[in-house]
Amino acid sequence: MAGYASVYAAWKSDPEAFWMDAARRIDWDTEPSKALFDARAPSFAWFADAKVNSCFNAVDRHVAQGRGDQLAIVHDSPITHSTRGITYAELRERVASLAGALRAKGVRKGDRVIIYMPMVPEALEAMLACARLGAIHSVVFGGFAAHELAVRIDDAKPKAIIAASCGLEPGRIVHYKPLLDAALASASHQVDFCVILQREQEVAQLVEGRDVGWHAFQYGVEPADCVPVEGDHPAYILYTSGTTGQPKGVVRDTAGHMVALQWTMKSIYNIDAGDVFWAASDVGWVVGHSYICYGPLLAGATTIVFEGKPVGTPDAGTFWRVIEEHGVKALFTAPTALRAIKREDPHGERVRDYDLARFEALFLAGERADPDTVTWAQQHLGVPVIDHWWQTETGWAIAANPLGIEQLPVKIGSPSVMMPGYEVHVLDEAGERCDPGTLGSIAIKLPLPPGTLPTLWNADERFRRAYLERFPGYYETGDAGYIDDDGYLFIMARTDDVINVAGHRLSTGAMEEVLASHPDVAECAVLGVADALRGQVPLGLLCLNKTSQRPHDEIIKECVALVRDRIGPVAAFKRAGVVERLPKTRSGKILRGTIAKIADGTPFKMPATIDDPAILDDIATVLRALGYAGDKR
Ligand code: COA
Ligand code: AMP
Repeated sequence: MAGYASVYAAWKSDPEAFWMDAARRIDWDTEPSKALFDARAPSFAWFADAKVNSCFNAVDRHVAQGRGDQLAIVHDSPITHSTRGITYAELRERVASLAGALRAKGVRKGDRVIIYMPMVPEALEAMLACARLGAIHSVVFGGFAAHELAVRIDDAKPKAIIAASCGLEPGRIVHYKPLLDAALASASHQVDFCVILQREQEVAQLVEGRDVGWHAFQYGVEPADCVPVEGDHPAYILYTSGTTGQPKGVVRDTAGHMVALQWTMKSIYNIDAGDVFWAASDVGWVVGHSYICYGPLLAGATTIVFEGKPVGTPDAGTFWRVIEEHGVKALFTAPTALRAIKREDPHGERVRDYDLARFEALFLAGERADPDTVTWAQQHLGVPVIDHWWQTETGWAIAANPLGIEQLPVKIGSPSVMMPGYEVHVLDEAGERCDPGTLGSIAIKLPLPPGTLPTLWNADERFRRAYLERFPGYYETGDAGYIDDDGYLFIMARTDDVINVAGHRLSTGAMEEVLASHPDVAECAVLGVADALRGQVPLGLLCLNKTSQRPHDEIIKECVALVRDRIGPVAAFKRAGVVERLPKTRSGKILRGTIAKIADGTPFKMPATIDDPAILDDIATVLRALGYAGDKR
C-alpha cells in the first residue's frame, strides 16, 4: 500500500480524482458527476448532483451483502448492569419501523427532528430513521439544561422531538422528560409531536395529544424505505459553542459526510467490515455522530454504545473489560477519560486484569493530549497511542497519524500530520504564513474537504464572519499552534473564548451572559483555568453592583446554581470570586488570558494595553484565596 506521503501528494495533485475514487465505496442511487461544486464559493458543496441515502449505506447494504447476522451495535451499560446486541438485520427492521412511524405522523425529507437521548441504541436508531426519510436530525447532549434545549428548538424549528424518559449518571437520574417539557414551555417554536422512549428507571408522564410512546406509535405502521436525497442535502445540524450564548448550528451534508467518514474508517482507524470499534464519547457530540453512529456503521463494523464512565462504573478497569468482552480493535476517547483512569490506577494494574489481545490502537482527541497521559497509555496498553485533532465543524480529523495507511513516528504532544483534504497553514496577525516552529493562528486553505461544514444553519452571514472573514481564502480554526520542520502540527490553545472542559467544548461568553443576569452582578469574566483532571475548568470573577449588600458567599452560590440551571451540569462551573474591577485593555476588552495566567501561576508579561496594572494585585489576591497559584509577573 502507498505510504502517507504519496497518498497526501495524490490528493494534493488531483483532489477531484482523489475524492471521486473515495466515493466508489459508497452505494449511490445516482452517481455524482463530479466531486467539488464551487459555484457558490466560499460555500462549497460535494457530490451535489448525486442521489444517495445514508441509512441505506450505514445499514441496509450490509444486510444485502450478507452481514445481517453480524452485530451492528453493542450496548454496554455498566450503569444498568446490562449488555445487549443488535444485528444489522435487526437494526434495519427497527429503523425502518421507526422511520415508518415518523412518516405516518408527517415527518418528511427536510423536516428537522431533535433527538434528546442518553447513550442507548435507540439514539442511533432515531438518527438513522431520520436519515432514512431525509429528515434532518439535531441531537442535543443530555448534560445541557432545559434553556439550552429551548434555544436549539427555536433555532432548528423541529417538527418532532425524540427523547428518552431519563438518562442515568452515576448515582443520579437525569430527568430528560421534565427538562424537555420545560424547554417546550419556554421555546417560541412548538413541535407537532414528541416520541418518548420510556426507560424502566424513570417512566415519564406523557402529555396527551402531543407525546407518543416509542413502541406504541410504531404499532401497525408500515416500515419506511430509504428516501434518496441530493448529495448536498443536510444530514444533520449539530450545535456547538461559539463566543456567545447563541450556539452555532453546524450543518453536515449527506454525501460528503459519508465519503469522508468511510475513507477515515480504513485510512485513519484501520477498521474494516466485521471489526469492532468503540468511541467512548456521547451521541450528543460530534465524535458520537461520526464515530459512534455513522463511521463504524458505514464501514460495516460493530459499534459500541457505552453508558458509563471511565471510573466509578464500577471501577477504573471498565474500559479494559469492555475491550476484552467485545473484542474491540480500536478505542477512541478523550485524554480526560484516561487521566481519570490513571489517577485511580497509576501503575496500570487494572489493565493487566484483562486480555487485550485483540486491541490494536488507542485514539485520543477532543482536547490536547498531555504527554504524561500519552506516556502512561503507551506504557500500560502496549498499542500505538494516536492523538488526532479535529472539530465539530470538520466532522473528521484535520490532523492524524493514519494507521490504516502507514503508522508514522509518534511525536508526543502533536496530533501528527495533516490529512488529505486539508492544507493547513499557520498564519500571523497579518495573515502571512509563519515559519516552521513559529506560533500563530491555524487556518485551512479553502475549499474544506467533503464532510466539513458548508455553512451554519440559517446563518450564512455568521458562518462567513466567524470562519472566513479574518483570513481571506482560508477557514479559521480558532486554534493556535505551529507546524514543525517535519510537518507535524502542534495545537496549543484557542484564539477565542471557547474553553475545553473534560473534552467538552464550552463558551465562556455563554456563561458570562448567565452570570450577568444575576441581579447583584454588575460585570463578570469567565475564564478557563488549568485542571489536572478535566484539562480546563471555568472560573468566574464577579464585580458586584455598588448597591449590593449581600454576603459574597451567598451570591457566588446563586451564580453557580444559575449556570447549572441555565447551561447545565456539563459546564462544570463550580467556582467564582468577587473582585473590585476587571483588568481591561484601554479599549475595554477584558484581559481573560492574563487572569488565566495568574490563576495558573504561568509567568506573563504585563500587557502593554492594560488600562490600570494595579488591578492585577486585587485579582491575584482573590485568586490566591480561591486556591490558585498567583502572580508570576
Ligand atoms: N447527561 C447529564 N449530565 C451529564 C452528562 C449527560 N450525558 N454527562 C455529564 N453530565 C454531568 C455529570 O454528571 C456532572 O454532573 P455533577 O456536577 O452533578 O457531578 C457534570 O455533568 C460534569 O461532567 P464531567 O465533567 O464529564 O464530570 P464527570 O464527573 O461526570 O466525569 C470524567 C468525569 C473525566 C470521567 C468524564 O468527564 C469523562 O469521561 N470525560 C471524557 C470526556 C468525553 O468523552 N468527551 C467527549 C468528547 S470526545
Ligand atoms: P469540538 O468541536 O467540541 O470537537 O472541539 C474542538 C476543539 O477541541 C478544537 O478546536 C481544539 O481546540 C480542541 N481539540 C480537539 N482535538 C484536539 C487535539 N487532538 N489536540 C488539541 N486540541 C484539540
